[in-house]
Amino acid sequence: MTSRSRIALGLGVFFLLGAYPVWNGLASSADPERPELARAVDSAGATGCIEDTTWMKANHQKLLNEWRTSVVRDGQRTWVSSTGTSWDMSLTGTCLKCHANTETFCTRCHDYADVQPTCWNCHVVPEGGQSEGGQSHE
Ligand code: HEC
Ligand code: HEC
Ligand code: HEC
Repeated sequence: MTSRSRIALGLGVFFLLGAYPVWNGLASSADPERPELARAVDSAGATGCIEDTTWMKANHQKLLNEWRTSVVRDGQRTWVSSTGTSWDMSLTGTCLKCHANTETFCTRCHDYADVQPTCWNCHVVPEGGQSEGGQSHE
């Protein structure tokens, strides 16, 4: 084995071990260190997320990116889920209708996972969700 490939292997193992607590913790809701997240608002008629919860946990950031591109670039505002339900592609108008408290849902999990998306500089957080607001795009 060359020293270069040994370094690559070492880094790979280091990364896997280092990342283990995060992905294991996110995968298991039984993890005692996983923060308590706010439940979705019942009055919004929430029986589940717009897609399977496990899928959402892993893919919501990609979905939000797709939504943004569709709206901003293509002027397309309607998205159809795998179950055939139509949704308005809106961070504030759709996601936050059900996940009304960004602080105890989005941010709490992001702090735990150590990611800091800054969407709220521009996107409005519903009343009570977070003190700092922004301008509406609607
Ligand atoms: C610099 C300001 C700014 C920031 C920061 C920002 N956005 Fe946006 N976003 C916009 C604007 C402007 C639009 C266009 C709104 C429209 O056409 O209705 C938009 C549209 C969107 C849309 C589709 C329509 C809507 O109103 O939701 C999504 C989804 C979205 N952004 C997601 C995000 C996410 C996720 C983040 C954080 C990673 C983010 N944005 C950060 C300015 C911003
Ligand atoms: C119709 C209501 C509704 C809408 C709209 C909705 N969600 Fe959800 N979401 C839920 C429910 C219900 C759950 C399951 C957990 C719960 O009961 O709060 C969930 C779960 C999730 C999870 C996993 C949470 C966990 O505990 O692991 C993420 C992440 C998520 N949603 C993000 C989003 C994003 C981002 C959007 C917009 C693109 C969105 N949701 C739109 C109702 C909704
Ligand atoms: C159950 C935990 C959890 C919840 C709840 C959650 N997220 Fe995330 N989010 C993550 C993780 C983990 C990542 C990093 C994923 C990656 O990098 O592959 C992430 C990444 C993101 C990103 C991309 C950030 C970047 O820097 O690339 C956006 C945007 C985002 N989340 C938006 C939201 C919004 C909006 C909500 C609330 C409606 C939300 N998330 C709720 C766990 C969560």
